[in-house]
Amino acid sequence: MSGAPDPSSIVRLSTAFWDSQTLFTANRLRLFDTLAGGPRTSDEVAAALGTDARSTGMLMRALVGMGFLKTEAGRFENTPTAAVFLVSKSPAFMGNVITYSDKLYDAWGGLEAAVRSGRPSLPAETYLGDDPAHTRAFVVAMHERALGIARALVSVLDLSGRRSMLDVGGGPGTYSVMLTERFPGLKSEVLELPGVAAVARELVAQAGAAERVSLRDGSYHTADFGRGFDVVLMSGMFHRETEAACRGLIARGAAALNPGGMLIVSDIFADAGGTHPPFASMFGLNMMLTAPDGGVHADADVQRWMADSGFGSLRTAPLPPPMPHRVVTGVKA
Ligand SMILES: C[S@@+](CC[C@H](N)C(=O)[O-])C[C@H]1O[C@@H](n2cnc3c(N)ncnc32)[C@H](O)[C@@H]1O
Repeated sequence: MSGAPDPSSIVRLSTAFWDSQTLFTANRLRLFDTLAGGPRTSDEVAAALGTDARSTGMLMRALVGMGFLKTEAGRFENTPTAAVFLVSKSPAFMGNVITYSDKLYDAWGGLEAAVRSGRPSLPAETYLGDDPAHTRAFVVAMHERALGIARALVSVLDLSGRRSMLDVGGGPGTYSVMLTERFPGLKSEVLELPGVAAVARELVAQAGAAERVSLRDGSYHTADFGRGFDVVLMSGMFHRETEAACRGLIARGAAALNPGGMLIVSDIFADAGGTHPPFASMFGLNMMLTAPDGGVHADADVQRWMADSGFGSLRTAPLPPPMPHRVVTGVKA
C-alpha cells in the first residue's frame, strides 16, 4: 500500500554500525594491501596478516557483500574502488580519513551521555595537542581529506592578484599550500595551535611549500591577527564555535584585511532551520561529541554575520558533490 509507514530504514540503520566497523577493521589490518599484488585465498591473507583463518574468511566474505572485494574460485581480489582508495600505496588512499572516523567510534557510543549532560564525549584537547599520536592522526586525516576538498575549492575561488593570506585554524596547511600554488605571488600565514602546527610544518616542508606558507603558533581566540592581508581564510572552524565566537572571528578578520580584501568561510553548513541536508545535521552531532561548542551553522547566518561586520558582495558556493562543503565569501568595503 503506497504511503504506508515503511520500517526498512529502521532495520537498515539499526545495524549500520556493522558496516562501519567492518570497513574500519579491514583498514586497520591493511587487509586490502595484502591483495594489491593479485588474488589470494582467505587462508593466504590470514597467514600474511597473522590473523585467525576462519574469522578472516568471514570478514572477507562480508567485504565482498559491501563491494570492496570480489571472489572467484576460492580466491579474493580488490574491486576497483578498494584498489584506488583502500590500498595504502595508492595516491588516492583514504585510509587515514577512515582511521580518523574509526577513532570517533567510541565517542559516538557516548551520544546518549552527551545529550543528557551537554558535554562532548571526546575531550578536544586529546586531538589538538595533548595526545601526540591522536593529534598526528587528526592532522594527517585532515590533510588527506583537504587534498580532495582543496582541489574543488581552488576551482570556485579566484584569488588572482592577491598577495597575502591569513589561514586561521589552517590545520595541516593543505589549503594554503594548494591556493598559493594555484595563484602565484600569493603567500600564506597559517595560525594554528602549537601541537597541530608542529605536524603541519612537516607536511608543508614535504610539499616543498615552506617558502610561501609559514606557520604561526597561537590560538585564534587570543592571537593578534595582524594587518594588511588581502585574504583571510577560515575553513572548517566555525563548526567548533558559538555564534558569538564566529561573529568575533569575522570582526577580527575584517580588521586584518586591506580594503577590498576577501574573507572566505568554508565549512559544512546547514540550510536555515538546521535539519537539511541530513549529512549537515549529523555532522553537527559529530562536532557536539568532539568539541565543547561544536555543532553546525547555517550559511545564511554566516552571511548575515559578515554583513554586520561590513562585508559586501556576499555569496555562497557549494563545492561539487560528493563534497558536502559550502564556501561563503565576502569583500571588505
Ligand atoms: C576541522 S580543522 C580545519 C583545518 C583546515 N582549516 C581545513 O579546513 O582543513 C579545525 C582546525 O582548527 C584548529 N583550532 C581549533 N581551535 C583553535 C584555536 N583556538 N586556535 C587555532 N586553531 C584552532 C584545529 O587545530 C584544527 O586544525
